[in-house]
Amino acid sequence: MIVKKTFEQKEALKLSDTIVEDVNNHDTIVISTPIYNFSAPAVLKAWADMVARVNKTFSYTENGPVGLLKDKKAYVVISSGGTKVGSEIDFFTPWMKHFLKFIGITDVEFISADQLMSDDGTKLQLVKNQIDELFVDDKKEVA
Ligand SMILES: Cc1cc2nc3c(=O)[nH]c(=O)nc-3n(C[C@H](O)[C@H](O)[C@H](O)COP(=O)(O)O)c2cc1C
Repeated sequence: MIVKKTFEQKEALKLSDTIVEDVNNHDTIVISTPIYNFSAPAVLKAWADMVARVNKTFSYTENGPVGLLKDKKAYVVISSGGTKVGSEIDFFTPWMKHFLKFIGITDVEFISADQLMSDDGTKLQLVKNQIDELFVDDKKEVA
């Protein structure tokens, strides 16, 4: 059954429509985020709430939900003070990975600038180099 949306409902969805369009229009998604309280900051959660739209970014089938975004790559750059990415108190990474898969993005690269509180600058430099490498690869592809 198709239910027509009211004017107010359409207005309420405008921001979400814009964000979904933005995601749709790009092959590469870069998410750069700190870990807050062992998980995603509220603003990133709010972005995800705007992106998850039935029949636009995912749909329900008899076999369960299916992501509708295709052929996209996501880079997720994470910073943290003390939480080690991948540890049992990192509730961010599993959620982020699952959310991206839920909307159809399975090609995901995580880049971790974690535990910066105890970093003497070495880890930050490694992460910087890792990010620079991505741009080098881009230039190679163009050349
Ligand atoms: C509200 C708030 C909650 C935070 N929670 C965590 C946390 O759970 N784990 C952690 O490692 N760092 C936490 N941090 C630290 C941030 O992740 C850190 O400040 C951020 O990664 C940026 O690094 P920087 O402060 O060295 O620039 C928190 C910071 C704030 C402001």
